[in-house]
Amino acid sequence: MRAHPASASASARASVPAGERPAAREAILLVGGKGTRLRPLTVHTPKPMIPAAGVPFLTHQLARARAAGVEHVVLATSYLAEVFEPHFGDGSALGLHLEYVTETDPLGTGGAIRNVAHRLHSAPGEPVLVLNGDILTGLDIRALVATHRDTGADISLHLTRVEDPRAFGLVPTDAAGRVTAFLEKPQTPEEIVTDQINAGCYVFTRSVIDTIPSGRPVSVEREVFPDLLATGAHLQGMVDSTYWLDLGTPQAFVRGSADLVTGRAPSPAVPGRRGEYLVLPGAQVAADAKLSGGTCVSAGAVIGSGARVDGSTVLAGAVVEPDAVVKNSLVGARAHIGGRTVLDSVVVGDGAHIGPDNELRHGVRVWCDARIDGGAIRFSSDQ
Ligand code: GDD
Ligand code: MG
Repeated sequence: MRAHPASASASARASVPAGERPAAREAILLVGGKGTRLRPLTVHTPKPMIPAAGVPFLTHQLARARAAGVEHVVLATSYLAEVFEPHFGDGSALGLHLEYVTETDPLGTGGAIRNVAHRLHSAPGEPVLVLNGDILTGLDIRALVATHRDTGADISLHLTRVEDPRAFGLVPTDAAGRVTAFLEKPQTPEEIVTDQINAGCYVFTRSVIDTIPSGRPVSVEREVFPDLLATGAHLQGMVDSTYWLDLGTPQAFVRGSADLVTGRAPSPAVPGRRGEYLVLPGAQVAADAKLSGGTCVSAGAVIGSGARVDGSTVLAGAVVEPDAVVKNSLVGARAHIGGRTVLDSVVVGDGAHIGPDNELRHGVRVWCDARIDGGAIRFSSDQ
């Protein structure tokens, strides 16, 4: 990829054809986390493999990386590592060369990056993209690579602003965008010094990856970034307020999938046209059922007569019986939702069975294969 003059401004960059803007040719995807907050969705499926808008979530990230010029991706796997390769193979279906490296014991985010270094082909000074495996974003990845090159940083980080930063890594910067501190998951009000957070997408200069200690667990957020700052390394932040969502909780996951279906969240990998709903081939939806709000119905799922499904994901082989109402919820694979049952902001695990005339709301999670009989439960914190 040809370099662009270092003096280019953001507006000048925007006018340069995409193919001529700088790209990172290699990426590391961190997909080894246990996804604890997403249980029961992650009991049988690692977080990046849960379908969002009809395909495993990771597909969207891989397709976006490919569109930004990435050619070679190393997946750093750990939890349920065996399910990735059978699905994505060598990556050729996505135009990528994919490799897999599995940690027997989880090495943490920094350890995972260090552990795949031997699979990278980039020269010491070249940029390598690193992505958290649960981020849905419209980030202009090439703009982050350009910022990295233009500022001569060791590491560049995409930063976004959120109302409540407590669940994230806080990243204050100076007037030039240079990172001044890194505060992971702040515990006290005094630590909340900014609303800028680490958005989970980095560009590392290849040689910097070799400075991460090897053979033991290392957190990039709690150890690598603070240590590099302490030794005077140049960490650059790029605040970009485009669409951004960490899909680490059930409600965020459901919303992310709906935003992909409606087109609010960009991805070249949505299997169909953007709109109010997406029904995958092999699903059956009754003519008078109403689908809205970015609902996705997977192959083999059945939506009965008069049912209303809004902003929800219904996974493969699930059944929503007539006149049920499913809102902002996720219905797991092969799960069964009885007639007239109401679900609002609920996650139903794979294979669970909920009988007719129940009402579940407000973040209830029904475990995989659990059984709730007809009219047995009315759960609402309003009552
Ligand atoms: N290979 C591997 N090994 N991957 C891991 C490991 C590990 O031991 N631990 C976590 N990961 C992966 C997860 O699968 C996920 O894709 C990514 O690393 C980040 O882990 P999360 O568990 O999702 O972290 P978080 O959401 O609490 O916080 C991180 O992301 C925030 C943005 O969403 C941090 O990077 C925060 O600083 C950041 O603000
Ligand atoms: Mg996360």
